[in-house]
Amino acid sequence: MSVIEKFRTMDYGPAPEDPKESLLWLDRHKRRFSHFIAGDWKAPAEGKFFDTIDPSTDEKIAEVAQGSATDVDAAVKAARAALKTWQALTPHARARFLYALARQIQKHSRRLAVLETIDNGKPIRESRDIDIPLVARHFYYHAGWAQLLETEFPAQQACGVVGQIIPWNFPLLMLAWKIAPALATGNTVVLKPAEYTPLTALAFAELCDEVGLPKGVVNIVTGDGSTGEALTKHPGVDKIAFTGSTEVGRAIRRATASSHKRLSLELGGKSPFIIFEDADLDGAVEGLVDGIWFNQGQVCCAGSRLLMQESIAEKLTKKLQARMSTLRVGAPLDKAVDIGAIVARVQLDRIDRLVKQGVAEGATCWQPEVVLPSRGLFYKPTLLSNVHPASIVAQQEIFGPVLAAMTFRTPKEAVELANNTVYGLAASVWSESVNVALHVAAQLKAGVVWVNSTNLFDAACGFGGYRESGFGREGGREGLHEYLEPSWFRKAPPLRAKSSKRADQAEVANPAIDRTVKLYIGGKQARPDSGYSLEIRGKNGKLLGESPLGNRKDIRNAVEAARKADSWARTTAHNRAQVLFYIAENLSQRSGEISARLAAAVGKRQAAQEVKLSVERLFTYAAWADKFDGAVHNPPFRNISIAMNEPLGAVGVLCPAKAPLLGFFSLVLPLIAAGNAVVAVPSETYPLVTGDLYQVFETSDLPGGVVNIVPGRPSELLKVLAEHDDLDALWCYGDAELCAGAKALSVGNLKQVWTNEGREIDFFHRQQAEGPWYIEHAYQVKNIWVPYGE
Ligand code: NAI
Repeated sequence: MSVIEKFRTMDYGPAPEDPKESLLWLDRHKRRFSHFIAGDWKAPAEGKFFDTIDPSTDEKIAEVAQGSATDVDAAVKAARAALKTWQALTPHARARFLYALARQIQKHSRRLAVLETIDNGKPIRESRDIDIPLVARHFYYHAGWAQLLETEFPAQQACGVVGQIIPWNFPLLMLAWKIAPALATGNTVVLKPAEYTPLTALAFAELCDEVGLPKGVVNIVTGDGSTGEALTKHPGVDKIAFTGSTEVGRAIRRATASSHKRLSLELGGKSPFIIFEDADLDGAVEGLVDGIWFNQGQVCCAGSRLLMQESIAEKLTKKLQARMSTLRVGAPLDKAVDIGAIVARVQLDRIDRLVKQGVAEGATCWQPEVVLPSRGLFYKPTLLSNVHPASIVAQQEIFGPVLAAMTFRTPKEAVELANNTVYGLAASVWSESVNVALHVAAQLKAGVVWVNSTNLFDAACGFGGYRESGFGREGGREGLHEYLEPSWFRKAPPLRAKSSKRADQAEVANPAIDRTVKLYIGGKQARPDSGYSLEIRGKNGKLLGESPLGNRKDIRNAVEAARKADSWARTTAHNRAQVLFYIAENLSQRSGEISARLAAAVGKRQAAQEVKLSVERLFTYAAWADKFDGAVHNPPFRNISIAMNEPLGAVGVLCPAKAPLLGFFSLVLPLIAAGNAVVAVPSETYPLVTGDLYQVFETSDLPGGVVNIVPGRPSELLKVLAEHDDLDALWCYGDAELCAGAKALSVGNLKQVWTNEGREIDFFHRQQAEGPWYIEHAYQVKNIWVPYGE
């Protein structure tokens, strides 16, 4: 065939990558790998190994150790022992190790890329040009943070020993996302790679040894879900970081609820890929190739739901089908291949099952006429059209090369469809109009939005989800918060357990005596649904008044009111600041009477102090309200990434029993300053504070529904708050049991929960009770990537 003819047909010959180096490496290890613990290869205690296969041939590559609870224990002990050495190093010394790892990864990049491709089945073009360069970039970026740790994160300390569990879709990249920030902040690590793809983690272990990383700082234990489970349950682990399926994320939340381990979860997604009629359609089609066929669609943020404006649906579908027909499916080591192998037989079967179910539910299935290799695990690029928004293929993560297409008419409808899942990981918006694109981006419930682009990642830009896509961010400054905590917090004493019903409280039926306080919902005083009140008595036993006993229905009404108050999030930050200043002014004016009433419950000195510090705290958060600025990142592409700090939404707050006024403000103010609406359960010792609070709010222009107050028994109301699907987050202050309950009760909806882990916070102490730690928990970061420059 002449060159001209070849050019016309655009046929490629095979262009195989030479795997020799990687195979030699495997042979050097006799194709059998033990765990990497305390800097040495340690045979599994139970002597069990399992095979890892090459999914493009279905053949065995090597054997790896099956980790048991004993192996996990040895690794955790090694990490604990190494903590002292690692933390005794200066940040600069740790920065040098991270830098050394980055360099070592670059030096061995091709071997790592080939190994990744053999073990995972992804095209070499991707592992070579995307995965491994990003791995190196992550270590460079975090070498920088390690160097700057003391100046940029003063008075913070590492969590300690971190257990990290990663999936198989980006094996080495996920390892880098986990290990680099953990080490940069002074933690030590036990990492469990996915059972299908353990090899690059083991190669990385060797690199750690080569750069002389102190023994035990990084430990790798291989195995399946049971090994991961042993890690999540190990009492010696201070924090778990997990990426994987939402189902396992739930199991981990359940397993860690009562152990007070910190937890970050990066879970699944069903990300929308929205194309408006004014988009550059050819560009959008190329974007789609990247969005859903990159890594065979086994990407948590894959653009798996195509939302097309109705007017262009036909034209776009034709262009898409034409492009799909040119995708090359085949041996992943071939440099000209676009789509490689599916990681494992169970995943292939799952994809097939879901596609068949989608078709049974009415979708039309289209696949190009590509010939799949005769062996190995392959699946054709697939387009499902006419998909009903409620169909399983529009709602569930397929995690394969399958695109589910739907249409919309207006931007409003596009946003509604886009947000119509339980997930909120990523989104892609295509329009030549910057107004349309950014208007839509702002309304999407997603941690990352790519405008006229897709699947862009950088270590400087935080990545992570909203809603059931998880919580916590990886990358960026915000990613470091996951591995740090205030130095004083670890040393805080446990909060004394107290019964939810005080001895001096007695239940009585209405009608009440003179000083009766009501609930405060939607800016109005409301009677409790139960019709019950509690007598509240002071220190000397004197009856101070009656407080309503809120129940499930009251909480439901309060959540509804908080939802309706969403204009608070959209109002200007200046307005929010003004309202907070105004509350301070009104509280200050009434300080005498409020303090006198509070004194009957907490004593004169504390009451005066609480009012004074509450006014100060109001000033603090009024000051912060217009300074929640995000950032503009400059990733190494022709893009900027706008990191917006967005409110969480509607947040439940269980306030401390002690310091009824100051404790309430300490938790509620950072939330409303950031634009959230709140449903608060006030101090159970002195819920009568509610009456003073709403009188101040009512005179301070705080819009109705921004703060709702439902007095009642914390342990009862906690359950309602935690299980409420329409509440985005929960801040729970209480003893160890209450905090564990907050996490365990919200396993179903994977709500973001922040607690004091049963420790006592001194709300009279500024360093402990206000500032960045609270603010960081009051918002979530959305990164909007926008093409920029030449
Ligand atoms: P998975 O969530 O079971 O596996 C992820 C990691 O968790 C692996 O290292 C696994 O060994 C570990 N693991 C499993 N059970 C565990 C437990 N009880 N405790 C602690 N660790 C445990 O994911 P799987 O089964 O491999 O894939 C199933 C589906 O999950 C996929 O089809 C896809 O929809 C989704 N998924 C999402 C990922 C993401 O990045 N969001 C990554 C991998 C899978």
